[in-house]
Amino acid sequence: MITKEEVLSREEISRRVAELGAVISRDYAGRSLVMVGVLNGAYIFMADLSRAVDLPLEVDFVRVASYGTNTCSSGTVSLVKDVELEVKGKDILLVEDIVDTGRTIARLREIFAKKGARSVRICALIDKKERREVEVEADYAGFTVADGFLVGYGLDYAEQHRQYPAVYKIVSGV
Ligand code: IMP
Ligand code: MG
Repeated sequence: MITKEEVLSREEISRRVAELGAVISRDYAGRSLVMVGVLNGAYIFMADLSRAVDLPLEVDFVRVASYGTNTCSSGTVSLVKDVELEVKGKDILLVEDIVDTGRTIARLREIFAKKGARSVRICALIDKKERREVEVEADYAGFTVADGFLVGYGLDYAEQHRQYPAVYKIVSGV
């Protein structure tokens, strides 16, 4: 059992996702975009954000393995599922649930740059800026959260709690 407190309500998330969608649509106006979601955490954010974007759009997913503990990634990040769409020459938007140490997203950005993408930007639902260990900035960030372990809206603790419509901080039970 965990005890949790709500940190981002369903309404707040929905409003912010609409804003992000509008900004992204404006920034890429006249172009088409490939949104690449990072499984599993980004699946709900990706579904909502893609529907908030008004652009010619392709959607694909990657899955990474990072070797570390349940609540913290470590240095090694590798792709266990790659995109199937062509990336070369395209504008890529990496869609991630949380940027924490930054290792995962920094590595993904490098991988997509090497594939010959025309541009690679990062959109994160949540930026945990204070925990950054590698130099990487989200081009688009929904919310900045200082600390705590979060679940819901795609985010898990040990694969549980992803399905909640809001985001909660776990206050005990971890
Ligand atoms: P990074 O490589 O340290 O930036 O790791 C980011 C990944 O760690 C995210 O994609 C999440 O899967 C996971 N993560 C970091 N913080 C949290 C959290 O508070 N709740 C759930 N997952 C988290
Ligand atoms: Mg993740």
